[in-house]
This record gives sequence, structure tokens and C-alpha cells, in this order.
Amino acid sequence: MSTGNKDLRCGSQTKQLVIDTANFYPEGVGREGISRAELAAQTGEIAQAQKRVQDGSSTGLDAEYAALNLAHEMPAQLPQIQAMAADLRRHQDVLVIGIGGSSLGAKALQQAVASQPPLAGTPRLHYVENIDPDFLQRLLSSLAAETTAVLCISKSGGTIETVVQYLILRDWLTRQLGQNTARRHQWVITDPKHGWLRELAEREGLPSLPVPPQVGGRYSVLSPVGLVPLATLGVDIGALLQGAADNALRCANADVASNPALEMAALCVLLDTRRSKRIAVMMPYVNRLQLFVDWYCQLWAESLGKWDRARPGSTPAGTLPVRAMGAVDQHSQLQMYLESRHDKFFTFIELEACEHDLPVPLDKIDVPHFPFLQGRSMAEVIDAEFRATRQVITDAGHPNMTIRLPLLNAHVLGQLIDLYQRATIYAGLLYGINPLDQPSVEIGKRLAIDYLRDTAR
Ligand code: PA5
Repeated sequence: MSTGNKDLRCGSQTKQLVIDTANFYPEGVGREGISRAELAAQTGEIAQAQKRVQDGSSTGLDAEYAALNLAHEMPAQLPQIQAMAADLRRHQDVLVIGIGGSSLGAKALQQAVASQPPLAGTPRLHYVENIDPDFLQRLLSSLAAETTAVLCISKSGGTIETVVQYLILRDWLTRQLGQNTARRHQWVITDPKHGWLRELAEREGLPSLPVPPQVGGRYSVLSPVGLVPLATLGVDIGALLQGAADNALRCANADVASNPALEMAALCVLLDTRRSKRIAVMMPYVNRLQLFVDWYCQLWAESLGKWDRARPGSTPAGTLPVRAMGAVDQHSQLQMYLESRHDKFFTFIELEACEHDLPVPLDKIDVPHFPFLQGRSMAEVIDAEFRATRQVITDAGHPNMTIRLPLLNAHVLGQLIDLYQRATIYAGLLYGINPLDQPSVEIGKRLAIDYLRDTAR
């Protein structure tokens, strides 16, 4: 991590992610790595996966992999997205109701790139996701209906957690403002044609934007689902989309040597199927990426955790994503990483240039205790921690890769989002499963509804 006490705000710069996979190979990590020959033996499958993605994303928002086209298609919808954001900005507080893919992306990007302190004239966003009456009650008791907006986001328009909380919040608005005024405090993002929320928006005349039908929840952060909340906060969503488009261009080839998403996907799948690495630990050394890891966990787990039992000889697919945070988890999970089973691979994320660095102010009397801190800054200390941890993980024989972010801004996060969405889809195709559906989650949703129905009073 390079340092410096001067302000390094570089919002408009466009720099590329550095993706370092050297420690996924034997030359970096020894026999636990995947050899070039093993990778080369998969050339046919890898090229086929890339072709399927290319063919399946060639017809814009109607395409099978339409999520990978959002960066190109959404700029045409920016006026409507910005108009909704401008309406929401007229409030002090915005309650964003949604769960899973309908909230994780916006939350992650807000934490990573929204201005801190918030830009003048932007509201506070409160994410209403989990069903927790205490949480909602406490939140509502701190808000005034007159200055609060409700933004309800659900692709299906019928997710029970979202519907229940919307009904409670609509009632809360209506009791205080009356039905007509309450309607003017509500906005909706959902499927353009189907679902209860779409019907409601049409019936009540609520302003709404569509989630493209082919784009599933966890792939929707670059659609109005993520873009509206982020634009409300003043995030440069144009730069976010440009970052994703730039990464798409970088990942256009069928060759792992020149398509980093394809290389990552192929190596992660081979580490699972050939080296029994069942756990994928993601460990950023940046606080502001903590929620990005949550977003990644959902994307990776819900897309790849599948078993196509109908296919003869098939085995379960997917590696369990695990959240870690450097340097905190050096004092928590690292012991297990180093001495327990060799069933993991690691992704480190480091930041090359932080916005503000702080020198370590060492008094003369303390120098003999910490001579190595003399003249050092916080960024240099975290950088040393990262390098040391990566070294011990590598020395212990754990395959690992590092993504280096040149800085934290919307353009860089756009690249990271596209990289992971693309790598996840490639990995699903290499496993031979459908990375876009979530059949078992759907069963759970249905059973919860059955339970309520069967126990109806
Ligand atoms: O990725 C997915 O499809 C899910 O995680 C959904 O985002 C989540 O279940 C919420 O669904 P919806 O947006 O339909 O309310």
C-alpha cells in the first residue's frame, strides 16, 4: 500500500484492478497449486464456457446472461434513475426495503464508495432487510413520516420479508399522513410486468422502475435495484457502469491468459474438484470492503452451491464462501487457517492508495519498545500485516490470489462487480450447473408460506 499524508481523492481516475493469481499455481504455492498442464487440459471446457457467456449475452437485456450487459444497457436509463433518486433526495430518511440481491449490492457499494461524511442534501438510507420487529420499531420511533420515503425493491414482487415490512411501513405512513399523502412517499423497483408489487404500483399509481426480467436478484446491483439507492447518495453511477464495461472488455477472450475472470473461475473450480479445496475465504485489508464480502458470499454461494442429481455421475458443486477481515481475523481465524485442514483457498484484497493516511506519532520514550514504528504510517503497518499473512498462508501451502485495488472509487468497484459476476457465471458453467437459479431457496420460501397458511388463525 503506498502512503502519503496528502489527500489522495481520485474520484475521476480510471485505473485497472491488478489480479495476481501466481499463488494459485505450483510455482507460487507448491504441489497444492493447479499446474499449467491441468489448466491446459481444460481448454475445451473453458472455451465452451466463454462461448456460452458470449452467446448468452449477445442480445442485450433479453439475453440469458443479461446481467453482464447492464453496464452497456443502463446508461440509456440513467435519466429515469436519476429522476427517482432526485425525488428520494427530497427526504431526510429513505427506508430501502429489500433482501438478498435486492439490498446487498447497494449496501456494499454505499460502504465502499459513498462520500463520508455524506454529501450535503443527501438523505440517510436505512436498509430494512431482515424480519426483526424490535429493529423496525426502534427505527420508526426515530423517524418522522413527513420527511421519510419508502423505497420497496423486490424482483419477484412477492418476497415475504419484503412484503411484510412494506405493509407495516405503508400503514405507518398512512396513519400519520393520510392515504393520499402517504402514496407520495412510496417508490417501487420490481419486475416490469409480474408480481404483487407491480400490480400494487399500477393500481396505486406509485412511481416505479423495472428490474430487467432476465436479471436475477444477486446479479442486479447494476440495474435500478442498486443504482437508485446509490444515485440518491450521490455516488457516480456513470463511473460505476463504466468500470463494469471496462472489465467486460478486459474479459472478452476465450483464453485464460487474457481473460482474468475466466482464469479465476477455472482455477477455483479446479482447486475444488482436483485439490479438494471446499472453502473460499475472502479477506480484504480494507474496512470499507466488509459488505462487499457479504455481497460476494451471496453471489458465490447461491449461484454455485448446487447438485444436478439428474446428470449421471454428478457431484455437489461449489465452494463455501467465508468472510474474513484483515487484520482483525489474524487474531481470530488465522490459527485455524494455518493448522487445520488444507481444504481452503484464499482471496486477499489490498488497497494500493488510501484516501487519508495517518503517521504513527511515537514519543522518544516509546522508541526502544517499537523501533520499527519510527517514521511509519498506518497504511505501512496494515501493508506489512497483509504481506506477512499472505506469506504464512503461502508457506503453509494454501493456494491464494490477490486483487489489488488502485484506489476505492466507483469505477474500480464497477470493475470488481463485473469481475465477480462474470467469474461466478463461468464457474457455474464449468461445474455444469445453472449459476442463475436458486431452486432450494425457492423451496424454503414456499415452505415458510405453507407454514403460515397451515397455522392460520
Ligand atoms: O439472488 C436472488 O435471486 C435472491 O437472493 C433474491 O435477491 C432474494 O431472495 C430477494 O428476492 P426478491 O428481489 O424477488 O424480493
